[in-house]
Amino acid sequence: MFGWRKRVERKGPRILITGGLSFIFSHVTEYFVRKGWNVVVIDNLSKGSNPEIIDGSFVHLNAHMANLDVVDAIVAEKPDYIIHAAAITDVDYSIREPRRTLEKNTRGTIHAFEAARHLPHLKKIMYVSTDEIYGECDHPMREDEMLAPRSPYSCSKAAGSLMRITYENTYPILKGRTVEIRPCNIFGPRQEPEKILARIKLSLKTGDPIPLHNEGAGYREYLYVKDIAPVVDLVLHEGEGVYNVGTRDGFTVRELIEKAEHVTGKKVPTTPSHRSGMDMRYQTDNTRICGLGWKPLYTFDEGLREYLSSVE
Ligand SMILES: NC(=O)c1ccc[n+]([C@@H]2O[C@H](COP(=O)([O-])OP(=O)(O)OC[C@H]3O[C@@H](n4cnc5c(N)ncnc54)[C@H](O)[C@@H]3O)[C@@H](O)[C@H]2O)c1
Repeated sequence: MFGWRKRVERKGPRILITGGLSFIFSHVTEYFVRKGWNVVVIDNLSKGSNPEIIDGSFVHLNAHMANLDVVDAIVAEKPDYIIHAAAITDVDYSIREPRRTLEKNTRGTIHAFEAARHLPHLKKIMYVSTDEIYGECDHPMREDEMLAPRSPYSCSKAAGSLMRITYENTYPILKGRTVEIRPCNIFGPRQEPEKILARIKLSLKTGDPIPLHNEGAGYREYLYVKDIAPVVDLVLHEGEGVYNVGTRDGFTVRELIEKAEHVTGKKVPTTPSHRSGMDMRYQTDNTRICGLGWKPLYTFDEGLREYLSSVE
């Protein structure tokens, strides 16, 4: 079940990160290594993974979160903190393969919480959800509003949000020990090229046109990936319950393209395309996370400028 592993014992706390080689959480893995923590990553090296960051500074267990034996493996690590971020994240794949996506993602989340309830000294488990679980939004959604996922991917994430509530309410050992974040669209280095800003970057380099779904009217909020690790750290230490993580800095895809063209002085070629069933607007209320004193390090424009600096 497990691949290469190396032990590096440090003085800091022990944190176990599932999906710790992903686009977003590879940055979180590196952040906690820099802080001097003992980091254990569970990642099965599937789509989105960045195995090139494996350098001996953390332990990597090559395990599938959907396999039951991962529960014992997590418990054996005796982590102080768990972050559960491993998931199939490709929405189009999830629409083609709903059963596989739902089965693997929900089993993975069950196993993360099963391990957590067998760890008497665990300080916190964080479940990583997404703003997509709210479905189409006509106003900035608060954390206590109804979930209305509209793809198998977002359904699997919403199921995890309900599991977090259930495990916390059912098992006294987990009372006050679970937290959840629901980030908006994240962009930055290591993102897979089918995601919009990575796609724009690629198109600026190659000149290949990007398919502009539904006339580029899809509206999302965006946050630079380097802002995620500090907010994860804050919520692990100060958080209670659920936090939307967004900036209320929302744009349509058309506006993103204009911004990218402005930053680089280059044209982004597009071709018209239609995506059926696409949610046109995600928007979240960030009052709770701001109430913890959170302030992003990067404005959207600063993040975009840094991300696109290699194509200017
Ligand atoms: N990308 C975004 O904009 C965004 C926004 C909100 C929330 N999220 C959430 O953040 C997390 C990370 O997203 P990302 O875009 O960085 O992911 P990603 O697609 O870049 O990577 C997914 C990672 O999870 C691993 N993985 C997948 N299934 C696994 C399994 N069953 N067992 C072990 N490892 C497995 C893969 O190997 C890969 O390293 C996900 O939970 C996602 O739902 C992402």
